[in-house]
Amino acid sequence: MSQAATRRVLSGIQPTADSFHLGNYLGALRQWVALQDSYETFYCVVDLHAITVPTEPADLRRRSRRAAAQLVAMGVDPARSALFVQSHVPEHAELAWVLGCLTGFGEANQMTQFKDKSAKQGTAAASVGLFTYPILQAADILLYSPPPGAGELLVPVGEDQRQHLELSRTLAQRFNHRYGETFVLPDAHIPKATAKITDLQEPTAKMSKSSSTPQGIIDVLDEPGVARRKIMRAITDTGTEVTADEQNKPGVTNLLRIFSALAGEPIEDLERRYAGTGYGQFKKDLAQLTVDTLAPIRERTEKLLADDDQLDRILGQGAERASAVATRTMAIVRDRVGFVGRG
Ligand code: AMP
Ligand code: TRP
Repeated sequence: MSQAATRRVLSGIQPTADSFHLGNYLGALRQWVALQDSYETFYCVVDLHAITVPTEPADLRRRSRRAAAQLVAMGVDPARSALFVQSHVPEHAELAWVLGCLTGFGEANQMTQFKDKSAKQGTAAASVGLFTYPILQAADILLYSPPPGAGELLVPVGEDQRQHLELSRTLAQRFNHRYGETFVLPDAHIPKATAKITDLQEPTAKMSKSSSTPQGIIDVLDEPGVARRKIMRAITDTGTEVTADEQNKPGVTNLLRIFSALAGEPIEDLERRYAGTGYGQFKKDLAQLTVDTLAPIRERTEKLLADDDQLDRILGQGAERASAVATRTMAIVRDRVGFVGRG
């Protein structure tokens, strides 16, 4: 009898803002929802990652709850997915330690996101936690590995996480080589069309909560009027044609990418529809589509946030399901590494 393959998905998102933005939603979170249909899914609000930069305790607590509520509101279904808070499953930190001992200092020092993030405050002032952040991320992922040879492990993220995913694969391989086959190599799941949504005011830069101005970023929880205004005022390029041209028309191209993803229509169809109409009608329709997509998410989020007990119950159940897998993996890891078993 052949054993059924275990097909798992793991992803995480930091609770570092009161609202997710459209880049998070289109680049990653929509995939989280879609993958529930065919995978065993684990989704994690990564609060340990959030404290790699100075964070107010009250903000962290509020944002962790808001993150969970938004995920449920977007369609992460607690009946099908384990939705949990990273710090509720201490094996994440424990495996990170073991993997950290397999990571070269020079290797960790290659991570471009650390360089970008630490450049703001100066490397000397950056925390060691920020430096080892990608190793904790590798632990998040590998804890949910099916047994090697018996499944797959997919990680839906945006383009900016590609290098971290490579490190996870390298560390899985190294662990397997040193201690015996333990982990499958995780695969990044980065749909090209939405891998990088850009800033509405600076369309060659990534839409980002840390570097975009409020005008450049659509928050999932923006009031409808606010979201509408931001789209109407988005930078468009010289000319009047609604056509995709990354080099010469990055602004319009980004709006086309957003429109296409929200409507589920190919960019070419949109180009045809708006041929000769100018930017005005195109933006108006995109603004309406954006508001129609986000308004129900916002309403559901507010309802969920009004019932702390229900949200805590969801997260409690999620942590239980995640723990069942994480403790099993960690028991194998401890044994392979040579830690003496507790009597
Ligand atoms: P962050 O908010 O940077 O922690 O990102 C959370 C998730 O959203 C990650 O999977 C990112 O890769 C993805 N993401 C963030 N910004 C963008 C963007 N502008 N376009 C596409 N995906 C993004
Ligand atoms: N580093 C990711 C980001 O900034 C968040 C993250 C933490 C993550 N752990 C993860 C993503 C595990 C995927 C899998 O978006």
